[in-house]
Amino acid sequence: MLYLQLLLLKLGAKFVGVKLGILGLGTVGTGTVQLLQDWAGRHPLLQEIEIHRVGVRSLDKPRAVELSTEVLTTDLEAIVNDPAVDIVVEVMGGLEPARSLILKALSNGKHVVTANKAAIARFGAEIFTTANEAGVYVMIEASVGGGIPVIQPLKQSLSVNRIHTITGIVNGTTNYILTRMQTEGSNFSDVLADAQRLGYAEADPTADVEGLDAADKIAILASLGFGGRINLQDVYTEGIRQVSKTDIAYAEKLGFVIKLLAIAKRNTPSSPLSIRVHPTLVPQAHPLASINGVYNAILVEGEPIGQVMFFGPGAGAGATASAVTSDILNLVAVLKTNTAVANPLLACGHQEYCQIAPMAELTTRFYARFLTNDQPGVIGKLGTCFGNYGVSLESIVQTGFQGELAEIVVVTHDVREGNFRQALAEIRNLSAIESIPSLLRVL
Ligand code: NAP
Ligand code: HSE
Repeated sequence: MLYLQLLLLKLGAKFVGVKLGILGLGTVGTGTVQLLQDWAGRHPLLQEIEIHRVGVRSLDKPRAVELSTEVLTTDLEAIVNDPAVDIVVEVMGGLEPARSLILKALSNGKHVVTANKAAIARFGAEIFTTANEAGVYVMIEASVGGGIPVIQPLKQSLSVNRIHTITGIVNGTTNYILTRMQTEGSNFSDVLADAQRLGYAEADPTADVEGLDAADKIAILASLGFGGRINLQDVYTEGIRQVSKTDIAYAEKLGFVIKLLAIAKRNTPSSPLSIRVHPTLVPQAHPLASINGVYNAILVEGEPIGQVMFFGPGAGAGATASAVTSDILNLVAVLKTNTAVANPLLACGHQEYCQIAPMAELTTRFYARFLTNDQPGVIGKLGTCFGNYGVSLESIVQTGFQGELAEIVVVTHDVREGNFRQALAEIRNLSAIESIPSLLRVL
């Protein structure tokens, strides 16, 4: 510590504490304050940080951390306008007033750390433009993968690579639900109810189970990996509500597990980006197949690095506080070294939007489950319809019945999604086809 102080004094830097204004003292805010207050054995720069103000909704709520009464306030505007605050840490969540407070803090020349993927995925363009104009940084390590370091690696350690694919299990709630459905053979709705009871799933699980949270996260990762802004509306998004225990059992028989994957892929630097979130059959030997429970993992593939996988706790007070505080520390280092020139490896300077390929152009394998009348020639007719559109089948199985109806499961070879959809439209018109209860993509 003394060495660091002497070094900074030698460099001419003025050695003063860095003041934080924290917006929110919930799960992540509390974890961050606890980490900052318990600095022994961690990085010495932590001692230079002062928790100056903390903004909350209610002053009457019991808190798990000790803070003096002058520190806690319900006036969050006052925090982002306070000239003494160097760094604003936004861990309140939601879209507004989080967006306006972040923008105000940046306009006031304060660096911002945020865990708010929803705000960054929607308002990133506005937020990063404001930051660049004000000459300050917005740090977002905790916005994807909780405690997993993946944002800084994409910005720095992997930045010389030509990234081909980012594939992630980036939502802990859905991974927990799918894992339990797999191991227990349970229904989606039963596991969701239990997960809510145990506190793993939120009371309103929409953003998680509909894939919206994962879409926010892959938009952020893709923007960093592929060097352009992503329009959130361009991210094709399917959740896990329609995944049934029947499909999970069939997938297992065929050598797969079902995971909610968030995928961004670009074949060449000039081709459009494919970006999507959907339940996917993952081969049991694939590294993402063994990521279970609330854990997250992100597999990055690029050239020349090959494959790198980041794995760890995707949520939780301590894990997320680790990411938030590492961002704070990076900014403290910036403030301490008085760097006048913006570091392009910390900033986000993309101006252009990535061109996104339509889903019809996606090439992937498909899994489809058909309920048909049990009559001769049905499999032949299915094969003919697929063949008419150049869809080649990898496997076709009929093992079960549901009442009077035969259950036929098909896995295709790689096929253009548009062709597969045309074949399905024709199949739907076959008199023997009762319904197509499931349609999933295969990795
Ligand atoms: P949380 O437990 O609900 O805490 C939110 C905090 O913000 C509370 O202290 C609340 O005050 C305060 N707050 C919210 N709206 C406010 C308003 N309008 N005015 C004043 N105070 C307000 O949320 P969290 O789980 O910590 O999540 C925070 C952010 O981190 C979110 O963007 C979330 O997506 C992200 N994140 C969370 C996790 C995780 O594991 N929880 C992981 C990664 C990222 P009161 O305490 O007075 O109610
Ligand atoms: N709801 C998120 C999840 C929390 O289940 O992964 C972390 O962003």
